[in-house]
Amino acid sequence: MAGRQSSPILEVERLRTHFMTRAGIVKAVDDVSFAISAGEIMGLVGESGSGKSITGLSIMRLIDVPGRIVGGRIRFRGEDLAAAPEQRMRALRGSRIAMVFQDPLMTLNPLLRVGTQMAEAITAHNREVSRTEARARSRDALGRVGIPAPEERLDAFPHQLSGGMRQRVAIATAILNEPDLIIADEPTTALDVTIQAQILHEIRKLCRQTSTAMIWITHDFAVIAGLAGSISVMYAGRIVEQGHLDDILDRPLHPYTRGLIRSVPSRNRRGRPLHQIQGSPPNLLALPGGCAFRDRCPHTDDVCNAEPDLELVRAEQAARCFHPQLEALA
Ligand SMILES: Nc1ncnc2c1ncn2[C@@H]1O[C@H](COP(=O)(O)OP(=O)(O)OP(=O)(O)O)[C@@H](O)[C@H]1O
Ligand SMILES: [Mg+2]
Repeated sequence: MAGRQSSPILEVERLRTHFMTRAGIVKAVDDVSFAISAGEIMGLVGESGSGKSITGLSIMRLIDVPGRIVGGRIRFRGEDLAAAPEQRMRALRGSRIAMVFQDPLMTLNPLLRVGTQMAEAITAHNREVSRTEARARSRDALGRVGIPAPEERLDAFPHQLSGGMRQRVAIATAILNEPDLIIADEPTTALDVTIQAQILHEIRKLCRQTSTAMIWITHDFAVIAGLAGSISVMYAGRIVEQGHLDDILDRPLHPYTRGLIRSVPSRNRRGRPLHQIQGSPPNLLALPGGCAFRDRCPHTDDVCNAEPDLELVRAEQAARCFHPQLEALA
């Protein structure tokens, strides 16, 4: 939907990733579709356990047993990653598609100096790059994510850097090979708000300059306001609302999206009590039939015992709901 103006770099179609556990099948990602164009940032938003990380890891093909992609397509520049051989994925990971995790130590090796591991990330995909050139490119990438004195940082070990700096190094490592797509899984959540804002600002600039597409995963609408172009809201493994960021912030259709936005403190004017969505996310092992948000929704009626589809409600804004809310958010 959003971002179909130019041909998309990534098209996820009806992706389903399930975990075959002893207790039963966990449908962590169930029928998820979206498309992203070059240079576009898509926010993937939802509460804990809604399937955001598993969506990102599925695109990277980093799902381990007992999990498996059981259906759908992941078209990356026309090639279906869901069916690509592992060898092909290894060539793409870290070069054409990169992922940044919440914990930078998932990416950074604590035993290697920053410059050494960044240079390795380059030469792993291109053996013809000299050490001098790899170092220069690493220094340049550190500068691009706003790290002061990048030359000195190259000689540091990860533990010698602050959390914010480490996360910037992880992001710099992700952009080293100028990927077409970056999947950022809550990389700034652990950082304080000012540093988050700085990093986000730099990332947006970078995506524009290099036409890199990005999926920004977060549970917090406040983080992506002003960053993303389009939004997909996930609930219980499914997309429940999809559209342009501004449309969704002004006029969210799904009662769940409305609840998420109203729980953002900055929207909460004049000391009104902060909104909280009642209840808790459903157990994916025992999803009730019908709409998965039914038990928490203020608009539920008998119709919601059937399963809603994700359908366009207005131009370029879709919701999976029998009772989409049409008025602007107060
Ligand atoms: N290895 C696993 N085995 C069984 N279930 C799993 C496994 N990994 C993830 N899940 C389930 O998949 C669902 C989605 O998980 P996911 O990590 O994508 O959530 P998330 O939206 O990223 O949440 P958070 O905001 O907490 O990071 C969860 O309900 C989780 O319990
Ligand atoms: Mg997650």
